[in-house]
Amino acid sequence: YDWNPRFPEGFLFGASSAAWQVEGATTEDGRTPAIIDLNSQKKAPFVDNKFTADHYHRYAEDVALMKECGLTSYRFSIAWPRIIPAADGAVNPDGIAFYNGLIDELLAAGITPIVTLYHYDMPVWVEEELGGWRSRDVIPAFEHYVRTCFEAFGDRVKYWLSINEQNMQICYGDWLGVSKGVEDWFRDKWKINHIMNLCHAVAVNLCHELVAGGKIGPVPGYVPIYPETCRPEDQIAAMNAEEFTEKIWCDTYAYGDYSPFLYNYWRNHGIDPDIRPGDIETMKRAKSDFLAVNCYRSNTARHAPADAEAQDYLLNASGNKGELTFPVVPGQYALTRNPYVEYTDWDWEIDPVAMRYALRYLWDHYRLPMVITENGFGAHESKSSDGKVHDPQRLNYIRDNLYQIGLAIEDGVEVFGYNAWTFTDLLSTGNGMAKRYGFVFIDTTDEEQKATDDVSTLALTRIPKDSFYWYQSFIASGATQW
Ligand code: BG6
Repeated sequence: YDWNPRFPEGFLFGASSAAWQVEGATTEDGRTPAIIDLNSQKKAPFVDNKFTADHYHRYAEDVALMKECGLTSYRFSIAWPRIIPAADGAVNPDGIAFYNGLIDELLAAGITPIVTLYHYDMPVWVEEELGGWRSRDVIPAFEHYVRTCFEAFGDRVKYWLSINEQNMQICYGDWLGVSKGVEDWFRDKWKINHIMNLCHAVAVNLCHELVAGGKIGPVPGYVPIYPETCRPEDQIAAMNAEEFTEKIWCDTYAYGDYSPFLYNYWRNHGIDPDIRPGDIETMKRAKSDFLAVNCYRSNTARHAPADAEAQDYLLNASGNKGELTFPVVPGQYALTRNPYVEYTDWDWEIDPVAMRYALRYLWDHYRLPMVITENGFGAHESKSSDGKVHDPQRLNYIRDNLYQIGLAIEDGVEVFGYNAWTFTDLLSTGNGMAKRYGFVFIDTTDEEQKATDDVSTLALTRIPKDSFYWYQSFIASGATQW
């Protein structure tokens, strides 16, 4: 690197996780099933979250390792079905006790908790008895859940996140379990999206009411989109792709109302998202304190004529390289392969410059401070003959992304933290334990996890990887030693 960008005083260097992907213990201490558990099991044999990293039982060991690494923040999520396991709305004391233990352990280690309220794990009872995200009945249930969290943990947790990647849940509804029971996804996803926006607003407003000094923001998944060429139509295609996969959501969070772009789209397609009197006022009142940004990669778009054949995003769930099919949205955009970047084992673009682009873009549009809540490198990995785990690609990826964040900060963007996905290996959304992201290796495989019903038969040994030691010395150097 030619120079050393300066990170602001108190910048949070951390790591990130989500309850259903890291905790395991899905049937213990009163937790009931979540929609994402079932959706994941559908993807068997690759995915099952009954054990994963067993963070539920080993969180003290994990926090001790975080402290050793020098982390100053940890972003994790609370599992709604641990807190409110059934339709009677009763609060589960064991669920509260678990998160109290984790939060207290973090604070004792000097690590700031950043807590996501919703990371895909809607209790199955909400889906079955209330109609899930399809029904406005979810709003009071969500309100009860988040109120419980703010009242139980708000004395110690000051950074809150509302809904993780609402945009991805709407774009990839089947993948993330949201589209179940919906007859006409093309139209009805906008109703679901509106209900999610109301839930986001409820969380923001309640946080400001109940948590002294509390700050809260949404968590869009942001994938910068480049035009494939300087052909003017490709530029518009890139803008269309950006609108339909992420900007629509960021606009709503920032302005509390839908953009003229979206209102026109709905009108032109005869879509009624069922916005009721008072809804927009509720959304407008919900002022986000910051944007939490998940950013891993970039995409590239080209013009797609109106008579092009539509194509869905076929995600690569098999664990093999080179099976990704790019989506085509006739008249709007087609995503294409970028020849200027390398790709991961799962065909994700390795593009640290996208991080600087994302931060510049979001800052220019919304002027909200930002925290990176996800960014990481998924790969196949195993122990070497020396007993260690060498992950040079992840180390480079994290270092290059941090450098680009530094450059964005020098560009004038306000960023207050970086939380890499993830601290320990955990269950990936679609690729089980085989797609590893951690600074810390977890000695387990999908096959081992599938073969047992008893977690105590699994080793699950924690082994810090090379990237752990790099991150440790980078943080210890005050972000000067690259
Ligand atoms: C983010 C999600 O979109 O990407 C995480 O918030 C997810 O839950 C992460 O794990 C990485 O995706 P994947 O499919 O590689 O696990």
